[in-house]
Order: sequence, then structure tokens, then C-alpha cells
Amino acid sequence: MTEIDTPHAGADGAADDDVVALLMRQHGDIRNLFDEVEASGGEERRDAFRRLVRLLAVHETAEEEVVHPFARRSLSGGAKVVEERLAEERAAKETLAALDDVDTDDPKFMPMLMKLRKDVQEHARAEERYEFIHIRRNAGAGNLAAMAKAVKAAEAMAPTRPHPGVESGTANMALGPVAALMDRTKDAVRKAMGKES
Ligand SMILES: [Fe+2]
Ligand SMILES: [Fe+2]
Repeated sequence: MTEIDTPHAGADGAADDDVVALLMRQHGDIRNLFDEVEASGGEERRDAFRRLVRLLAVHETAEEEVVHPFARRSLSGGAKVVEERLAEERAAKETLAALDDVDTDDPKFMPMLMKLRKDVQEHARAEERYEFIHIRRNAGAGNLAAMAKAVKAAEAMAPTRPHPGVESGTANMALGPVAALMDRTKDAVRKAMGKES
């Protein structure tokens, strides 16, 4: 079998109490899903791409709701660090929106996917280097755990593996469009953090 074994989000059972470890593991899951999209074709690629889009949407929404506000408040120079990360996220979202209109079998798809992958990777590296390390240094264990709980609640909305025995089209329909998914993610995150939206 040449199938790539992408671990199910949250399947490692670790990082439950450290938001930084959790988000860095999601960065790894995102890298694996890019690999899976590149290595597959046809319906398999379409399905892997939908899972990638969902995980990206959920991951960035959780960061915007949970860790960026904390970094802005608590890190010295945090406002600037967060502004730069948000600008990168906006750029990646624009590429993602353009890509969403192109079929995964279209010859234009791969070059656009490569551009998105580069944007997303540079962004993830900048987060790890300029934001996450400082969060870990500045946030107490209680804060890291509370933020981790909120990110876990978001993660439950983005299975990285196809549902066994379920047609991918049905699963996608059940999850709805990306904007609606982001809204549901925001609600789940706010609820987990104890603020009703
Ligand atoms: Fe991000
Ligand atoms: Fe990230």
C-alpha cells in the first residue's frame, strides 16, 4: 500500500494541556495533508483537499480567537507580531479562496497549491518563531491549558481522515461551506473559553 498514513487530528493523545504543542502538531497535520493532496489524484485528491481546507480554516480561526489575542495582550511587542501574522493569514486565505474555485484535476491546481503551501509554511514558521515560543515562556500552565482546551474544541470540527464508509461528498455536505465552518468554530472556541458569543 502506498497510502500515506495521516494521523487523525487529536489521535496522539498528547498536548492536551499545552496550546503551543497542540498548534505545532496541527502545523504538522497540515504539512501531511499537503503531502496527501500532492500524492493523490482524482476523487482521492478532491477529498484530501477538502480535509486540508477544513483543517486550515479551523486552525487559523482558533489561532485568531485564542492565541493571537493572548499574544497581543501579554507579549512585549505583541501587537506588531500579531499584525504581521494576521497579514500573512489574510494572504494565505486569498490564495485559498482562489484555489477553491479551481477543480483539483485542473492543470492550474498544482501551481496554485504550491503557492499556498509556501505561504502557509512560511506563516507557520513565523508563528512558531516569533509568537509561540514567547507564549510558552510568558503564559502560566493554567493559561496554556485553558487555551489548549479551546483549540481542542475547534479541532473536533476538522477530521484529517475521511470518515470510514461515508461518501466524501456526503461528509462535505454535512460540514457545509468554509465560512459557515469558521462561524461554528468560533462558537465552539468561545464556548470552551467560557464566553458565549
Ligand atoms: Fe496562523
Ligand atoms: Fe498556525
